[in-house]
Amino acid sequence: MTSPNSLEECRQWDERDRFADTRSKFLLNPDIIYMDGNSLGALTKSSMARSRAIVEDQWGPDLVRSWNVHGWFDLPHRLGAKIAPLIGAAADEVLVADSTTVNLFKIACAAMMARGSRHRVVTELGNFPADIYVLQGLALLSGGAIEIVAVPRSEIAERIDESTFLVVLTHVHYKTAELFDLAAITRRAHARGARILWDLSHSVGALPTDVGAARADFAVGCTYKYLNGGPGSPAFLYVRRDLQDELRPGLTAWMGHAAPFEFTEDYDPAPGMARFRVGTPSMISFASLEGALEIWHDIDIREVRAKSEALSELFIKRVDALTGSGLSLASPRDPARRGSHVALTHEQGYELMQALIARGVIGDFRAPDVVRFSITPLYLRYVDVWQAVSVLGDVASGLSRTEHLRRNPVT
Ligand SMILES: Cc1ncc(COP(=O)(O)O)c(C=O)c1O
Repeated sequence: MTSPNSLEECRQWDERDRFADTRSKFLLNPDIIYMDGNSLGALTKSSMARSRAIVEDQWGPDLVRSWNVHGWFDLPHRLGAKIAPLIGAAADEVLVADSTTVNLFKIACAAMMARGSRHRVVTELGNFPADIYVLQGLALLSGGAIEIVAVPRSEIAERIDESTFLVVLTHVHYKTAELFDLAAITRRAHARGARILWDLSHSVGALPTDVGAARADFAVGCTYKYLNGGPGSPAFLYVRRDLQDELRPGLTAWMGHAAPFEFTEDYDPAPGMARFRVGTPSMISFASLEGALEIWHDIDIREVRAKSEALSELFIKRVDALTGSGLSLASPRDPARRGSHVALTHEQGYELMQALIARGVIGDFRAPDVVRFSITPLYLRYVDVWQAVSVLGDVASGLSRTEHLRRNPVT
């Protein structure tokens, strides 16, 4: 993997960059180098336009008729169909709805109800807390009938056995960015008769992911990170087509009913992905996501990945060259094993990140000592990465060892 060796070379790489025009589709503050797109993606102009249009041109004049005349009711399916190719799924296998946490619950609960005599869920120790907490809650809800087995990555394959009904893993680790081999672990789960649920929150829009080729059972993920849908934009869920009609959703809800506007007394699940709908979709957030997805129509995710690897290499190479910074690489060095952010550790990580943000370089901090820098090729330039590491070096060398800041609620 090659990457530029000087600021001048960075400028040349940016001029030749296939995504130079894509960057202009974002509204970016020129005084900020934004490296937190794995937490909240940047604002696209199309998202702004769609958010405004749904309020001014649809809700305002057309009121409740908008559900029909502007196709609001079907938007969760239409947006699912747009996300589907980014994860290797078919259009009718993906639904946009709710949050990632809620979708995880809906699917894990459905899998629990279909578990037969199996009673274990295998997950990774250190998986994103939302995933772990949902599973722990489900175990309580089951009255002790199911058990959650959270083990280190190296033990996962061997712990999937004939007692396992579900494996829940996050494809790109939220802290370290370490990647799982999605196809290999899916094969392992299936060989033991278990189903697998992939959390693709840090994968979708960041790297090629193929749940279809792997025949993965389920997936969920956020749209406000690399898809830039906006703060709290609705999440997606994927259920392989042949499983859809045999599963009873964990949340048996009115919008997932076969005929919601018949208002019948008894629950009857809709066919296909519609049964995983819950309640009234938050249309303004859906519109924001719809706008953000427009920019993907001519983008090849393999090109995104290639630039992500080059930017990450540049970032790591420059961090390696900093002396006495107290920073260590917490992500895999091998690009093939890394997602699209780079994690470093520093014993005063929080203070370091706050000082960086004050200098206009925005990343984030994850307790106890990780600072994360996202690599978002659609709007991040080589010059940005070069300059971000220059500021990082300055800030790390100027940090007071005794300073400890009170932490903000969001770090
Ligand atoms: C890997 C992963 N899973 C799940 C979530 C939870 O998403 P939400 O809070 O939107 O439900 C996040 C949020 O950052 C995440 O990074």
